Amino acid sequence: MAPVTHKPLLATVLGQRQERPPIWIMRQAGRYLPEYRQTRAQTGGFLELCYTPELAVEVTLQPLRRFDLDAAILFSDILVIPDALGQSVRFATGEGPLLEPLDEKGIDSLDRNRAMSHLAPVFETLRRLRAALPAEKTLIGFCGAPWTVATYMLGGRGSPDQWTARRFALEHPEAFDKLIDILVDTSIDYLAGQFEAGADVVQLFESWALNLDDASFARQVMEPNRRIVEGLRQRVPDAPVIGFPRGAAGNLRRFSEATGVNALGIDFATPIDFVNAHLPPELPVQGNLDPLRLVVGGEAMERQARAIIEGFANRPHIFNLGHGIVPETPIAHVERLVELVKRG
Ligand code: CP3
Repeated sequence: MAPVTHKPLLATVLGQRQERPPIWIMRQAGRYLPEYRQTRAQTGGFLELCYTPELAVEVTLQPLRRFDLDAAILFSDILVIPDALGQSVRFATGEGPLLEPLDEKGIDSLDRNRAMSHLAPVFETLRRLRAALPAEKTLIGFCGAPWTVATYMLGGRGSPDQWTARRFALEHPEAFDKLIDILVDTSIDYLAGQFEAGADVVQLFESWALNLDDASFARQVMEPNRRIVEGLRQRVPDAPVIGFPRGAAGNLRRFSEATGVNALGIDFATPIDFVNAHLPPELPVQGNLDPLRLVVGGEAMERQARAIIEGFANRPHIFNLGHGIVPETPIAHVERLVELVKRG
């Protein structure tokens, strides 16, 4: 029996279906909110926002002041790990993240010893959030899964096909494995620290679990996620984990079985029928509205939101988008979506 909790979202992650699905929204703190843009404009850089607990707490709580969401997600970014390991990371306006791409020598110069003290402000943010949040709200921590983080570390920026990192993994297997080992170990320390600071559950963002053949999926996606879940639970027994292998498609079931995550985030391109046919009915799922439907609103949004709620009515389900909310999303549509999920 999973432990009883008065937090509906955490309870769902632990396998207990709620009468109506709890809801949070991936990237719920961000540029679609004027108050976020204002805080952001008053802060030097994006990373400074992540490393200043007072500001990070403020932007984490902003969406909860507007909407009746069931969880707060720590405000940070998956790229604080490369930054903490000593790689140069910048966020250029309109360009997304820019990193100094790593080569084999660069991998050797990453410094795990400095990482946790560098990330200390993130733990302080979580402690303050824990104290500020009402008891029924779930506090979600997170990190990027190693392969997704490695695509940015090796490629230097986001790319539609992760070409540079995929090529590096095949051409320089030893250096690549060394990088993954560093990321696995650092992520375990980081997530264990997040639980110690008050997180109820963590999500592993594997945003680039696509474009990989069988062997590469096993090596680059499943195995590192599995090692993190295992290593984390040695430090934090029964640590609740949501996996989000975006684009895993036919590999979803294998991913779930291999990693032992408690719940699976489902991207919006994955059919509801497919999930129900291939994943055991007791496995909690999270998702999976297309963020574009939230931009458009009206029937385009409501019809599919209802189809998702009905489609997952016979299993533990957390309502969410199937990827992050985008800056052009109207606030009124988010209000309507939350109301629809909570009250129909
Ligand atoms: O969900 C939340 O509200 C918590 C905060 C959060 C951010 N990034 C804040 C952010 C989380 C959970 C992330 C995860 C993240 N970051 C992922 C995985 C999820 C996904 O969307 O696939 C990835 C791949 C990143 C890397 C990253 N950070 C990119 C590609 C970008 C630029 C593109 C974009 O959406 O802006 C960022 C910047 C970023 N991270 C912003 C925010 C609010 C916008 C930066 C700004 O304010 O200027």
